[in-house]
Amino acid sequence: MDAKDIFIIDTVLDKYKDVKDPALIILQNVQAVLGYVGKEYLEYIAEKTVYSLTELYGIVTFYPSFRLEPPGKHMIKVCQGTACHVRGGEKVLREIQTQLCIKPGGTTEDRLFSLESVRCLGCCGLSPVIMIDNETYGRVKPAKIREILNKYRGGSK
Ligand code: FES
Repeated sequence: MDAKDIFIIDTVLDKYKDVKDPALIILQNVQAVLGYVGKEYLEYIAEKTVYSLTELYGIVTFYPSFRLEPPGKHMIKVCQGTACHVRGGEKVLREIQTQLCIKPGGTTEDRLFSLESVRCLGCCGLSPVIMIDNETYGRVKPAKIREILNKYRGGSK
C-alpha cells in the first residue's frame, strides 16, 4: 500500500466520518477508486475506524460485488437483466465462463480478464449485451465470444 492509496482511503474516511454506520459505503468507495478492497486496505480501515477486520471481511465476503484481489487488465461485464436474459444472456455468460474458466467475480490466472455479471447496461435494445472495458458489444452470440475475446489477447487492445 503506497502513499497514494493511503491518501485515497483517508479522503474516503473523512468524507463519511459523520455518516452513521458507514462501513458499507466506505468499502464501496474504496473499491470504486482503487479497484478492489485488498487485505492491506481492510487492515488500514480497521485501524482507522471502529470496525474490526473481521467485521470488514464479513461485509466484503457477503456482497459478491466486492473484489478482494486486484481486477484483471480487462473487465468483462455480462448483462443478466431481463431483456438480455430472455434473448440469451445466460448462454453468453456460460460461454465466457467456459472459455476463461472463471465465474463472475473471478479473474483469469494471467490477470488478463475479470468477469462480472450485471443487471442492466442501459442499452436493452441491443440485448444480449456485454461490455469489455468501455466498449459495448450488442446482439452477442455465444459463437462470437472467442473472436471478441481474441481482440484483447496479444496486446492489441
Ligand atoms: S437488460 Fe441488458 S442492457 Fe438492459
